Amino acid sequence: MCGIVGYVGEKQALEVVVAGLRRLEYRGYDSAGVAVISEGRLEVRKKAGKLANLETLLGQDPLPQSTTGIGHTRWATHGGPTDHNAHPHVSEDGRVAVIHNGIIENFAALRAELTESGVQLSSETDTEVVAHLLARALPDVAGDLPRAMQAVCHRLEGAFTLVAMDPNDPTLVVGARRNSPLVVGLGEGENFLASDVAAFVEHTRNALELGQDQIVIVRADGVEVTDFSGNAVEAAPFSIDWDASAAEKGGYDLFMLKEIAEQPKAVADALRGRINAEHRIQLDEANLDDAVLRDITKVVVIACGTAAHAGMVAKYAIEHWTRLPVDVELASEFRYRDPIVGPDSLVIAISQSGETMDTLMALRHAKAQGARTLAICNTVGSTIPRESDAVVYTYAGPEIAVASTKAFLTQIVAAYLVGLYLAQARGTMFEDEIRGILADLADMPQKVDLVLDTVEPVRALAQEFANATSVLFLGRHVGYPVALEGALKLKELAYMHAEGFPAGELKHGPIALIEDGVPVIVVVPSPRGRAVLHDKIVSNIQEVRARGAVVIAIAEEGDESIVPFADHIIRVPETPTLMQPLVSTVPLQVFACELATVKGHDVDQPRNLAKSVTVE
Ligand code: AGP
Repeated sequence: MCGIVGYVGEKQALEVVVAGLRRLEYRGYDSAGVAVISEGRLEVRKKAGKLANLETLLGQDPLPQSTTGIGHTRWATHGGPTDHNAHPHVSEDGRVAVIHNGIIENFAALRAELTESGVQLSSETDTEVVAHLLARALPDVAGDLPRAMQAVCHRLEGAFTLVAMDPNDPTLVVGARRNSPLVVGLGEGENFLASDVAAFVEHTRNALELGQDQIVIVRADGVEVTDFSGNAVEAAPFSIDWDASAAEKGGYDLFMLKEIAEQPKAVADALRGRINAEHRIQLDEANLDDAVLRDITKVVVIACGTAAHAGMVAKYAIEHWTRLPVDVELASEFRYRDPIVGPDSLVIAISQSGETMDTLMALRHAKAQGARTLAICNTVGSTIPRESDAVVYTYAGPEIAVASTKAFLTQIVAAYLVGLYLAQARGTMFEDEIRGILADLADMPQKVDLVLDTVEPVRALAQEFANATSVLFLGRHVGYPVALEGALKLKELAYMHAEGFPAGELKHGPIALIEDGVPVIVVVPSPRGRAVLHDKIVSNIQEVRARGAVVIAIAEEGDESIVPFADHIIRVPETPTLMQPLVSTVPLQVFACELATVKGHDVDQPRNLAKSVTVE
């Protein structure tokens, strides 16, 4: 939530900062603002709404030239999405400008303290208190902004990334982080701060990870990192393994369409280099200790939203392959209910961004109970993998659209690799069984490609159902999390009532929702898999059809037995049962994307949402 950019160098700061904000807008788009230092003064422009509104304002009321600047794109928490709540916030004396991502939990007490001492606050945000506190701290530390930042950070509770500037030191930008992301871009004669490397990857691919409770002092010719007490610390350098074009639309109208189309490659990349010449899984970079894996007695997956659906898919596979019990927990619930995990548990945190606060807090709770932790993550160097004992990256490339697509497919692949690795280490499967499944996985990029080639009829269907008031999704076995994912996509993009159900559960209540013309999308299991699952879902289809539902079946090529029972059939290639989510999800992504487009919604930036949810 919220995107942050800071720049010091030789270029025009405003151009660098606005370009960075454009790449970070996926993080929040309720308002945007920038500040530069010119002739010893702060110059600020900010505007409610998307970045385009700020750009219009900058056209009408240009900023002076400057080589030091900061910028922010906001997902509102404290205070509505208005001009005066937009960041940057400036202290009363005009001395300090600050931008912030996170929530300062003790802001009410700090605000009361400032008000009592006569400060007039001009916004409803938690952030503004930091600007005033920094300005008040400066005289005590001889006007040294990094030391003022140390003093203020000691007073803050909650999650924050802060970036601040002081016109008295116009070639300096200072950042601080606790529980929220901040990375440093290292250029030639210029340096950058940002919530995500996407903001500066067009300028440099060299970056520094910042750790928890660290302050970074950024000038054009160097970067220093300290802890909150001013002690120097070593920050870990890393290089960004993708270029700026990967975060462009590349000829597609929407990031989501591009990311849907990238799925065959993303699945192939998630598998690449992980199966050796002896057909054994090697997850070298994961740092998995086979002896530890042999001792665990349960697996717990913690994740949110789409990532939790990937975990639910993986549960079916990992339990089947390893005979270990697998619990899948919504991360936001996990730590508040006294979960039973300990040294014999493997806790797998799945997260595209690696910054989701609910997942991070659940991970920390699991670690505190002594659990072994493993991250499945897409964003190299982000907090969740950094704080886990082991990591398996998904290598899906940057995912910009708020609605997750290629991240979901690659999370399933990565979780399957972990499951098979567990089976290999624990000896719960024969090697030829593992080889067979790896061969199935290796076929999946081509099968996903086939789905994309034949997905056109889904667009026509989406148009047909654009006026539906509710859409239900049914599935069984691994088709159930796929149904949940289809419903989530439709809710977040088309703003329609949509729900996913296990098909067998329908008659225990939800079937009352069925009336004439309600579209019901059914993920049909392969008739070649466990035949009973297929037969049962055919019965469930008949139950809803008898009550007036219009049934759209996502069914395998060659499954003719479904023809008499469905009003529409979307075909996917023949695929083993556990691989089906990798093909059957794709038409549901296209359905939601098309329906939202027909309704005129902003598909890449749906209302009220942000890509990376860094508040609890
Ligand atoms: C789904 O389309 C959403 N983007 C959302 O549910 C997302 O999967 C969830 O917020 C978790 O994000 P993460 O993978 O970055 O942790």
